[in-house]
Amino acid sequence: MPMDSTFFMCKPDAVERGLVGEILRRIESKGLRIAKADLRVLDEVSAKAHYAEHENKAFFGELVSFITRSAVLVTEISGPKDTWAIVRVLMGETNPAQAAPGTIRGDLACDIAENLVHGSDSAEAAARELAIFFPERTTKS
Ligand code: RTP
Ligand code: MG
Repeated sequence: MPMDSTFFMCKPDAVERGLVGEILRRIESKGLRIAKADLRVLDEVSAKAHYAEHENKAFFGELVSFITRSAVLVTEISGPKDTWAIVRVLMGETNPAQAAPGTIRGDLACDIAENLVHGSDSAEAAARELAIFFPERTTKS
């Protein structure tokens, strides 16, 4: 089975609400593995780099202040080919109000701004985001 990995984050609301264990349980139960994990408060520079694709959106300021307000758990999740896509299915729709029951957002949230988790949305995004949050990875390979 070809191995792959993706970037996944439990956002400040997940840590504040004590849902990190519940969220990681779902990732692990699916058969994916936590390759790296670090609890940290994001600085504005890495938050803006991470969400650069949204810098012209009306909600960008709110998004950066939310993601930097308290600790997040940044992780590298490993699994089979296109792990990023498997994680996105577990997460559910961006807007928790529309996310299906059984998904992390569908079961545990109801506010689009506080939607608990982030997962890379392509293989390219996974590589880019892992390099932002775990830079040692790119210097070794
Ligand atoms: P994420 O990047 O956080 O994993 O979420 P996503 O791919 O499902 O959604 P994306 O389109 O990348 O949006 C990034 C985050 O911006 C917030 N958002 N707010 N107020 C709004 O209309 C709005 N739209 C998006 C969400 O918190 C979303 O996770
Ligand atoms: Mg996104």
